[in-house]
Amino acid sequence: MEEYRVAWQQAATNPEDFWASVASHFQWMRPWEKVLDADFNTAKISWFAGARLNITENALDRHVKTQAQAPALIWEPNDPADQVKVFSYADLLAHVERTAGMLRRLGIKKGDTVGIYLPMVPELVFSVLACARIGAIHSVVFGGFSAQALADRLNDAACKLVITADEGLRGPKKIPLKSIVDEALIQVPSVETVLMLTRTGTEVSVQANRDELWEEAWKHPDNTKNTAAEVMDAEDPLFILYTSGSTGKPKGVVHTTAGYMVWTAYTFVNAFQYRPGELHFCTADIGWITGHSYLVYGPLLAGACSLMYEGLPNWPTENRWWETIEKHGVNIFYTAPTALRSLMAENKQAPMAYNMPSLRVLGSVGEPINAEAWHWFKQAVGKGRCALTDTWWQTETGGIMIASLAGITPEQPTYAGLPMPGIVPVLMDAHGIEIQETQAEGNLCLVQAWPGMMRTVYRDHDRMRTTYFTAYPGAYFTGDGCLRSAQGMHRITGRVDDVLNVSGHRLGTAELENAINHHPNVSESAVVGYPHPIKGQGICAYVVTDQRIEAQAELQDQLIKLVIQHIGPIAKPDIWVLIPGLPKTRSGKIMRRILRKIAEHQSDSIGDVSTLLNPEIVPAIDKAFKRATR
Ligand code: WT7
Repeated sequence: MEEYRVAWQQAATNPEDFWASVASHFQWMRPWEKVLDADFNTAKISWFAGARLNITENALDRHVKTQAQAPALIWEPNDPADQVKVFSYADLLAHVERTAGMLRRLGIKKGDTVGIYLPMVPELVFSVLACARIGAIHSVVFGGFSAQALADRLNDAACKLVITADEGLRGPKKIPLKSIVDEALIQVPSVETVLMLTRTGTEVSVQANRDELWEEAWKHPDNTKNTAAEVMDAEDPLFILYTSGSTGKPKGVVHTTAGYMVWTAYTFVNAFQYRPGELHFCTADIGWITGHSYLVYGPLLAGACSLMYEGLPNWPTENRWWETIEKHGVNIFYTAPTALRSLMAENKQAPMAYNMPSLRVLGSVGEPINAEAWHWFKQAVGKGRCALTDTWWQTETGGIMIASLAGITPEQPTYAGLPMPGIVPVLMDAHGIEIQETQAEGNLCLVQAWPGMMRTVYRDHDRMRTTYFTAYPGAYFTGDGCLRSAQGMHRITGRVDDVLNVSGHRLGTAELENAINHHPNVSESAVVGYPHPIKGQGICAYVVTDQRIEAQAELQDQLIKLVIQHIGPIAKPDIWVLIPGLPKTRSGKIMRRILRKIAEHQSDSIGDVSTLLNPEIVPAIDKAFKRATR
């Protein structure tokens, strides 16, 4: 604990020396000239300027020199009866090199963007790292996004090549990835090549001048000729990952090479207190930032072994994760509250039958963890003997920001805890003034640059500046509310903007409304979140329509289809309320506060509605909500 205090103080008062010392443990082709340059007014951030490196040399080649035969990646397939795959550091490097050579042979060069729409198979890790090796910018799209959402992302990133599979496996279900790609590409002129992996062997359509089969392309002898790691500048982009904001289309969050490397490695080792030789199991999909930072980059940079899990948490049974932990001897288990809550709901007793003696550290990520899930995780899964770290961070932050260092700094249910060294959180009040009292609640901002922070919104730097740096001049605004205890512990209370967190998936209300408004019988809509016992937040959609009541069921089906078509099944609203109009202020702004209150069954405490243009609409909406949820 004392060591933590000293480190935090050093990083806060002299970040350049602190991070230079951390960075000195990596392999650089050329040293940096300036550790840090940050301006929170222009949103220009640079770490380790002038340095040259390749992140894959640090994640792979560096470890091959000292532990070539140590396991780097273990793959647990969807079906537990299928063959597990294990890759040592030497194996993984060889596969990444070959994939890199293959991509180069297919015409991909430094600075090109590559879209990746793959299931959770080892080739996904090879592809991500192969892009990094040749300096191509990877943009992974989660397999739960629709053709339209995929097309939007591929277009924004101007991808030249897409890597996909015939189908993905999720428990008993097959996801038709290739046909989704085919549909998306009708709208994406930049894509020249599709590299398709065979996962299920189902027959899919192949377009002669565009599609390459992975298994065929893989065999080409030239793949092994051109595999050297590209020389990258510290601030060269490493990847783009799309994430939802409160307005407009998803943003292409850009992370760059050196800072992201230092941050993911440092936070992996420190938050989980990783010990050499340990096996880390992060259950997140690589389509999300958690998978990027703590399934791929963080663990491999640290020389750890990362367990990759293909399927669903509860298939074929609700014991699958506990069996997987025992089967492989997992030491660190990192998952999301929504998964814990759904397993608890299925069978609270299930983990009791598993001792899981290898487990040492548990981690939670993605959304607030409620006290009940925290205690179940700690006791039923961790048997009361594992440290539990609740890690708060965001796509934009690159890595863990506020979390207890496993077993070292205090852990307290529902509190993420103390900031990592290098992180200086402040709370702002309603007037935009920093709150000085320790015990307080406010909007969470960060006032010091950290190495892993996003650098820009792809091809729209002004959106970076306006989204994060204008609400509180001089500070990065997270979008989260936060309660700080008298001991300085941080409890993240959730988003204060129009971003939803549904089963750990981040969704923008504006995107949902945009999809719904495509229906010819819908004139307007407003979407809000409400507390949901398993998903964390559920989605309630208020829809203004001229449809007759009798046609409601049919309209609802059409609206669900629109949401699935524009975003994907993960965005399906839980509650549909058809209403005659939305509550608006005189200036035409939708009063979402009222809609939230109704969705939370708290219409009694809506309070004053006299500033509304149409106060009479409120009881009508409340009545419609009660009818819809009866
Ligand atoms: C939002 C970021 C962190 C990687 C996965 C999600 C919420 C995240 C926690 C936590 C309470 C959390 C915040 C944040 N969030 N972790 N431990 N406790 N809330 O990344 O999709 O960019 O979402 O997730 O609201 O702003 P993301």
